[in-house]
Amino acid sequence: MAEDLDKILEEFETRMTDIHSLLELEEMRVLFLGKKGKLTSLLKTIGNLGVDEKKEIGKQANLLKEYFENQIKAKNEELTKREIEQISQADEAFDITLPGKDFPRGSLHPITIVQKEIENIFTGMGFRIVDGPEVEDDFFNFEALNIPADHPARDMQDTYWLDNGQLLRTHTSPCQIRAMLKFGAPLRAIAPGRCFRNEKIDPSHENTFFQLEGLMIDKNISIANLIYIMKLLVQRILNQDPEIRLRPGYFPFVEPGFELDLRCQICGGKGCPTCKNSGWIEVLPCGMVHPNVLQYGGIDSDVFTGFAFGLGLTRLTMMKYGIKDIRVLNSGDFRALNQFKTL
Ligand code: DAH
Repeated sequence: MAEDLDKILEEFETRMTDIHSLLELEEMRVLFLGKKGKLTSLLKTIGNLGVDEKKEIGKQANLLKEYFENQIKAKNEELTKREIEQISQADEAFDITLPGKDFPRGSLHPITIVQKEIENIFTGMGFRIVDGPEVEDDFFNFEALNIPADHPARDMQDTYWLDNGQLLRTHTSPCQIRAMLKFGAPLRAIAPGRCFRNEKIDPSHENTFFQLEGLMIDKNISIANLIYIMKLLVQRILNQDPEIRLRPGYFPFVEPGFELDLRCQICGGKGCPTCKNSGWIEVLPCGMVHPNVLQYGGIDSDVFTGFAFGLGLTRLTMMKYGIKDIRVLNSGDFRALNQFKTL
């Protein structure tokens, strides 16, 4: 037995001189000290020896085990150190403890932020999100919205006409008709989108701006439903209960129609260029969908009623963030947009 131990030691020493990598070292450890390793197997047979021999051999074997473990540990440290040195001298050397580079992060446009918030509010109430083309037909932008060719209301919106008779949509209301034709009644839908008008540009007017259309059609929808939803919307968006007022407004596609005004959040109502010194900002024209419009949308106006609204998304964003000049929003000016970075 004692000779066996000597043999194992000898083999260990020989092999150790030939170990050059951590992988080889691990193989070596398994070979001698692993579950079925040479020394482990030998230790298992000690139980068969006589009492005295058992004591003596057992002691030696354990010393040997300790010696092997120490040798392997020392070799491990030596090899690890060498590997680290090699890595740090190589071309692709890097220090994994250095802090990472900060990659530039983009941000959502403030209008997109507000749009998403409104989408959340409405999808939570069972509204679907729909859209329509920015290049529209006369039919959807005017005709089906109860604005026939000779109607003076066409002058309310300065339209960009295209040579082929189409136009750049002046509002998101054409999405109402498209949604009605596609989904029928009952219907709950919102349609955010870009609109265009041939406007002179000033702090509160742009020729390109965003609206968000809303439409709810069902049996027994009344002005009470309209007012409830409009109030809830304004409260949720501004995270407060701001002063609002509802006054009659004329739009050919609703009857009755209303204007919902919001206390100017920029001057608090004292009067400033943004609110044209009125202290109020029109944000939410709305009304009960005109029966003609329901019919153009293929919906039986004797059975169904509905309300609609056309939120000035751009204007609401200005209110929410206290942006005084609408031109900032279309400018792509990073100094302004960077302020909307979120984590
Ligand atoms: N489309 C109208 C505009 O741009 C806004 C509007 C008014 C939309 C009343 C509506 C509504 O849905 O009911 O001036």
